[in-house]
Amino acid sequence: MPPEFPVEPQPAPTLFFFGVTTGRSSSRRMFPAWAAILGLGEARLVGLDLPINGPPEVYRRAVHQIKHDPLSLGGIVTTHKINTLNAARDLFDELTPDAELCGEVSCIYKRGGRLIGHATDPACSGQSMQAFIPPGHWAASGADVLCLGAGGSAVAIAVYFTTRAAPADRPRRLIVVNRSRPRLDGLRALVETRLPPSGTAFEYVEQTDPAANDRLMADLPDGSLVINATGMGKDTPGSPISDAGVFPRGGFAWDLNYRGELDFLRQARAQAATRGLHVEDGWRYFLLGWSTIVGQVFDVPIPPPVFDRLAAVAEGVR
Ligand SMILES: NC(=O)c1ccc[n+]([C@@H]2O[C@H](COP(=O)([O-])OP(=O)(O)OC[C@H]3O[C@@H](n4cnc5c(N)ncnc54)[C@H](OP(=O)(O)O)[C@@H]3O)[C@@H](O)[C@H]2O)c1
Repeated sequence: MPPEFPVEPQPAPTLFFFGVTTGRSSSRRMFPAWAAILGLGEARLVGLDLPINGPPEVYRRAVHQIKHDPLSLGGIVTTHKINTLNAARDLFDELTPDAELCGEVSCIYKRGGRLIGHATDPACSGQSMQAFIPPGHWAASGADVLCLGAGGSAVAIAVYFTTRAAPADRPRRLIVVNRSRPRLDGLRALVETRLPPSGTAFEYVEQTDPAANDRLMADLPDGSLVINATGMGKDTPGSPISDAGVFPRGGFAWDLNYRGELDFLRQARAQAATRGLHVEDGWRYFLLGWSTIVGQVFDVPIPPPVFDRLAAVAEGVR
């Protein structure tokens, strides 16, 4: 049978970046410096600008290329994580448990000739939180998480807390807010039927009114974590809370974004001193995701001291 798509033999070990406007990403400048640190020789990052919610063939063709060309070693998938898995599920020889639970692939790599699809966000969102929330915090504080947005990142955070976080040190409640119902229903189905019982009570709230989100925030116990997982302040203007919203005392504000207008981050920073609030952007999360995927695709270990070197050079191209 003829191949489904033509395959373009790559001249050097290649990581494909499935994005939208990949030329504008700082990763294009970051990758050569990382390749030098990791000793990856001629390795290249090749951007694929793919349409958002495009026809399945565009994602399938890119996975097909990786599967069939020896020097196409893997892929890093950003915006198209769900569409890529849906379009190319049968091309993978293996999906990791996190890819199955999240219903997405962010990392495509090969081992022993087998094509593997993996979702890095549960582990990387957890590692990100561990970098700014001290161990034992949830057990000691009885605090909650308010996650604004119920998309892919919220699913990954739910998977992290229910499958990876220490059972004795989990939030009391995880309240997830979304502007429409389907993502909330999807998350509820995942939590109730596929994730293990975790001791964290999940609540699902459908609303978009910033004042209503302010009220949810005001009801949180001290020490709680508020996450902006809506894409607002980067993908769309504004913030899910208003300027009048008050963050939990001694708590944490985490904006998953690190570039753009970052209104939520600005609102949080304005209260950092008065509320004893730790404010975190999505930069470390971004670096953890990229370094994990580069490590998997090129099959090189990235222990913490090496990650610190990668982070230092990335800072220069941020
Ligand atoms: N730093 C990093 O490495 C990193 C990693 C992952 C994600 N991110 C960023 O995090 C953001 C979220 O990513 P994602 O993958 O979860 O995106 P996503 O799957 O598109 O989810 C965003 C969710 O937010 C909801 N939403 C939008 N505006 C809202 C509002 N005003 N109130 C309540 N809900 C609202 C959307 O609702 P509907 O269901 O109605 O559309 C959608 O479910 C993006 O900006 C992404 O770039 C950063």
